[in-house]
Amino acid sequence: MKALVLSGGLGTRLRPFTHSMAKQLVPVANKPVLQHCLENIRQIGVEEVGVVVGDRAADIRAAIGDGSDLGLRVTYIHQEQPLGLAHCVQVAQDFLGDDDFVMYLGDNVLADGITAAAATFEQRRPDAQLLVVKVPDPRQYGVAVIDRDHVVRALAEKPAVPRSDLAIVGVYFFTAAIHDAVRDLRPSARGELEITDALQVMVDGGKLVTAEEYTGYWKDTGSADELLECNRALLERITPAVHGDVDAESTTFGTVVVEAGAVVTRSRLVGPLVVGAGSVITGSYLGPSTSVGNGCVVTDSHVEDSILLEGSDVNGVRELRGSIIGRWARVSATGEQHSLVIGDHASAEVAA
Ligand code: TTP
Repeated sequence: MKALVLSGGLGTRLRPFTHSMAKQLVPVANKPVLQHCLENIRQIGVEEVGVVVGDRAADIRAAIGDGSDLGLRVTYIHQEQPLGLAHCVQVAQDFLGDDDFVMYLGDNVLADGITAAAATFEQRRPDAQLLVVKVPDPRQYGVAVIDRDHVVRALAEKPAVPRSDLAIVGVYFFTAAIHDAVRDLRPSARGELEITDALQVMVDGGKLVTAEEYTGYWKDTGSADELLECNRALLERITPAVHGDVDAESTTFGTVVVEAGAVVTRSRLVGPLVVGAGSVITGSYLGPSTSVGNGCVVTDSHVEDSILLEGSDVNGVRELRGSIIGRWARVSATGEQHSLVIGDHASAEVAA
């Protein structure tokens, strides 16, 4: 079996971060989303991985290289334009050949791995196998209608009136039968070649498409709120480890990770949280669900439920919550007024 990881796309919902970086490289619990995905793939014994890349190809290559650090052999497949998930299968056809493959959206986090799903696919040998999760509002997802034997009867992409509450997770197991189904697809109303349409072609053509319920933690990290939610969930699973330097005037409580080279002085750290290598935390409170990336500086501030990306600097800020601070960005207090230098498509909420 091979893997096809989709790391192109526009990432419009994650602006402004995606103006300067690939959304699949945004870290949750201090690890890029794409790395969570590649580790899950390695865990099912797959080594041959095709990574579909678009405009941000150089960033993805710089981060993943040839994959050998993760025990993988990575081939990059260029997608000229993000024309849809089924288009990714089309452009990857030479790489995939007639092999079975797992297609994994590079912005999806499945915190409990995909080993059970891979085993079910091997045992049952359907032509394609989806993973689904019951959600309260399926309208923003692909939706599957299945019968009692897990056989998929119908699919729809982001339906206004969903026919089931089963959202399709961004991990699909395919046999080579998918290639016939993507060949003659027409773009959908939103202009994309939809993988749900390809699966519907398979269903209508009498192929066996099954769906298994994913019972672990799953999050599509396409938006800022989803990233923060995923960060919270993954931090709940970290193992405490203090390798950095925490001085005697500082206290830690709960699950706390302080990576090597970080320096914590006169501060209170209440986990679950992680402080990245080389960060300097001084006179501050870091609260639950906080990920501080590498080389950050937090001084005289209160930060919780937030993601600080590499090299960011927070100084004198009374209460920062539910925030994502971009790489090398600075946030500081100025007294009563607000002084903001905000990039394109950024969003800021200030105290009224
Ligand atoms: P989406 O989140 O559906 O699309 P997007 O990345 O363009 O984001 P937005 O809607 O915010 O503009 O993509 C899911 C994953 O698949 C993501 O990792 C990007 C990848 N992808 C491709 O590689 N090629 C494509 O043509 C599309 C549509 C997505």
